[in-house]
Amino acid sequence: PCRLVVLISGSGSNLQAIIDACARGEIKAEIAAVISNKADAYGLERAKNAGIQTRVLSHKDFDSREAYDAELMDIIDNFEPNLVVLAGFMRILTPSLVQKFKGKMLNIHPSLLPKYQGLNTHQRAIDAKDDVHGVSVHFVTEELDGGPVVLQAKVPVLENDTAETLAQRVHQQEHIIYPLVVKWFSEQRLKMEADYAVFDEKKLPAHGAH
Ligand code: GAR
Repeated sequence: PCRLVVLISGSGSNLQAIIDACARGEIKAEIAAVISNKADAYGLERAKNAGIQTRVLSHKDFDSREAYDAELMDIIDNFEPNLVVLAGFMRILTPSLVQKFKGKMLNIHPSLLPKYQGLNTHQRAIDAKDDVHGVSVHFVTEELDGGPVVLQAKVPVLENDTAETLAQRVHQQEHIIYPLVVKWFSEQRLKMEADYAVFDEKKLPAHGAH
């Protein structure tokens, strides 16, 4: 079966959604390990509760991003994953790490890419008076939050939304679309070619599948 390594920095609610989908047999994959750059990430508890191996690799123990990523690369590699899943892993990756897992690394980003790459996406959507916001799952390339989109979900921005209430609405969609995309990848229906994503042999448009 497909082997996953999941990288987190925080709560791990997306990790939980993937754990649950694996447990239900919707995703036919095994989570080989969960790796966090933060020792206090709640997602580590979620992994332990599911009997999944965990590793903590603190960026504070390294002098450079290159040194950190070299070690991270080794740790990931030792678990021999078919797919690396970034689930709220709040670090910028070096080009060599991205190259190493090219076509085998997915990320979830809380905006309708290419809108709002980077941080504070919910507040930025509110400030811009957008009436639609959302979330994207994409392959990771060297361009930050710029790799080919696989799937997006939209949510309405409501009149009294704060970044928190909007984030909650987005999160509900994240927990639906991320397991679905991981399922597609594990069934070998999804791949990256050049700079676009391919689903069931069809090239996906820039905004992903429907
Ligand atoms: C999610 O909302 C995810 O989209 C976002 O972090 C959150 C992690 O939540 N990712 C990014 O902002 C990546 N730049 P979780 O730990 O509960 O899954």
